[in-house]
Amino acid sequence: MPLSRRWTLTRYLIEERRRFPEASGDLNALILDVSLACKAIARIVAFEDLAEALCPGVPATAGGINVQGEEQKKLDVVSNELFTRMNEWNGHLAGMASEEMDVPWQIPAQYPRGKYLLVFDPLDGSSNLDVNVSVGSIFSILRAPAEVCETGRDVTEADFLQPGATQVAAGYAIYGPTTMLVLTVGNGVVGFTLNPNLGEFVLTHPQITVPADTHEFAINSSNSRFWEPPVKRYVDECLAGKTGPRGKDFNMRWIASMVAEAHRILMRGGVFMYPRDTKDPAKPGRLRLLYEANPMGFIIEQAGGRASTGRQPVLDVAPSALHQRIGLVFGSRHEVERIERYHQEPASRDTGAPLFGERSLFRD
Ligand code: AHG
Ligand code: MN
Ligand code: MN
Repeated sequence: MPLSRRWTLTRYLIEERRRFPEASGDLNALILDVSLACKAIARIVAFEDLAEALCPGVPATAGGINVQGEEQKKLDVVSNELFTRMNEWNGHLAGMASEEMDVPWQIPAQYPRGKYLLVFDPLDGSSNLDVNVSVGSIFSILRAPAEVCETGRDVTEADFLQPGATQVAAGYAIYGPTTMLVLTVGNGVVGFTLNPNLGEFVLTHPQITVPADTHEFAINSSNSRFWEPPVKRYVDECLAGKTGPRGKDFNMRWIASMVAEAHRILMRGGVFMYPRDTKDPAKPGRLRLLYEANPMGFIIEQAGGRASTGRQPVLDVAPSALHQRIGLVFGSRHEVERIERYHQEPASRDTGAPLFGERSLFRD
């Protein structure tokens, strides 16, 4: 059945499940609970500063001291609590992991355990909250290892260390002028806009695809002195514009909110880079593999784009730690492939040796 713009998220999920008659419906129910957490976060993001005056039901989170003399929670922590509370009871999860929790979250003993793992960044780009710029939530759904399901034991960090290619579903919510939920269950990418009157996500973007070509790139250029030569070369060529080897002018954007950058790229193309750099040898990249790079990589690839570390597809990386960081490049396929090519080419090319230099015969 063709997708219809009138469908709610629930209807989309039910229609999707009909393609798999053996499916239990657990995944759908889980995604709906995640979407409820996102709706709640959208409210607190929008109304935090008004919470006390206008929204008595919304937690006041602006920092400072509450009436009990306790320190009030920041939105990151409240968002994390909304994610855990709205998903711990449903019986579909064996455990959760998040940017905001050092170790995996165990499903409390009073609730049944299920076959999925939920991994999330409850509030991405939170440095933008004070300036009223779009932020978002990112989530990834994995299968729990069979042995976890059989024994019902507590989850460990190792249970989450699965390559991104094994993700069952991934998505993000963006809290911007409208709240949207962008989702993949491995069959393309769809986008829903929250209708605040109904409280429902409505399918507004039935088939999101990333154009293969672009002339827009996003990178934090204040890090340029720490970039590796292939990244430097790529950006230099973009900046050279019409007069450089690319022969066309590029435009630059940097929001410092990956969800917002990814959303722009899904809507009109572009390339996003937070590459591995030499800024801090203890951190091979800024973004986290399991709850930032992998879900975004899955979404971008399902939309026909490409996601890479520069050296390999990000979804192929075997994770080594729950909070592992990684270099990330994603977006329009031809640009990401070009950046990967620059990483593969011999160092002599990167150092501008005459044979391969920009003014050489081998120039692109
Ligand atoms: P978070 O708010 O979850 O810590 O992540 C923010 C991330 C990402 O959204 C953004 O692309 C990047 O950090 C911004 O980094 P810079 O501050 O270096 O620009
Ligand atoms: Mn983040
Ligand atoms: Mn975060």
